Amino acid sequence: MERFFQSFMIDGNVLIILFICLQCDMITLGIETSCDETAVGILDDDTILANIVSSQVAHTKFGGVVPELAARNHIKVVVPLTKLALEVAHRDLSDVDLISVTRGPGLIGALLVGLSYAKSLAIALDRPFVAVNHLEGHIYALHLDRGLQYPYLVLLASGGHTEVVLVKDEFSYETLGRTTDDACGEAFDKVAKIIGFPYPGGPYIENAAKSGVLGVIDFPVPKPKGLTFSYAGLKTAVLYFTRDNPDYKRDDIAANFQEVAIEHLIQVVRKAIVSTKVRQLGIVGGVSANKRLREKFQGLASDMGIMLHIPELQYCTDNGIMIALTGACRYVKYGSSDLSIDAVAREPLDDIPTV
Ligand code: KG4
Ligand code: ZN
Repeated sequence: MERFFQSFMIDGNVLIILFICLQCDMITLGIETSCDETAVGILDDDTILANIVSSQVAHTKFGGVVPELAARNHIKVVVPLTKLALEVAHRDLSDVDLISVTRGPGLIGALLVGLSYAKSLAIALDRPFVAVNHLEGHIYALHLDRGLQYPYLVLLASGGHTEVVLVKDEFSYETLGRTTDDACGEAFDKVAKIIGFPYPGGPYIENAAKSGVLGVIDFPVPKPKGLTFSYAGLKTAVLYFTRDNPDYKRDDIAANFQEVAIEHLIQVVRKAIVSTKVRQLGIVGGVSANKRLREKFQGLASDMGIMLHIPELQYCTDNGIMIALTGACRYVKYGSSDLSIDAVAREPLDDIPTV
């Protein structure tokens, strides 16, 4: 795969557009096992051949992800899922040119399953492999569509992370702010649990919110300093409300919680746009699948005259395609990762190693 940049002048600003072009027909297998989704994606340059995701239901009754269960489920599923993805893609393992896999951040036991499997494939097939940062993977879901220009801002809102990041150039990140306590998706999951929905709660809250009445409950919009986020207070406000009002309507709680959770994201991102003057905004991570969020951010983008990019729904939540694309792009610039590379529970975007 080869990429090239094209630059344009608009209003005195040089806009650099990255194109990923179909040149040498490189097949990349992307493997994702950082949390409770086992996912395998197959990419032929920038053409998606297969995107298979297996979501683990075993955690539902525990109201959250149980790390040991997640790892055991990945072990059971990752090999058959890879076979299925190859079948869907009409390819054999021997057709794979590059193996890309998530090394972190995430649950160590879960990550080690994917990473060990990817290393074994790389050795057995004698192919290069690239170990990828999961957060960068979410960001690369934006590059599945063309037209995104550097620099751009990204709001990453998932189950484990909520951060606003300046992407200055390819592989060059500055995290401007992150949550000081719960992540946005985590707040959706915890509120869902409080009002009796299973894990993961985000889609249940979104669905219930459609029948709820806005404005009948006054949850406070969090106001942490600068470009930081905070969801612990909002979650506690929901908990106290349910205790004080045992006859609460859960659709109303869902609608009003969701509105405030999204409003908080909007307020912080608005500040980030004003302070950086960047005109491109991407939103990624599981919470970006929320249709109300997509609608509200579209409103923000029109108000502020900026370009908004959000991946297709299936590439918002964890998937193997985003990992395949990140690995393919990193491989072009940095080559293969060392086979000694390890899994990491934490790895900020500003600190991704190039080995
Ligand atoms: O990115 P992701 O699939 O995994 C992580 O990297 O964490 O995000 C999962 C999170 C969960 O907290 C889930 O409840 C939330 O994304 N989520 C949603 C929606 N779909 C998934 N939150 C709100 N609305 C949704 N439609
Ligand atoms: Zn994720």
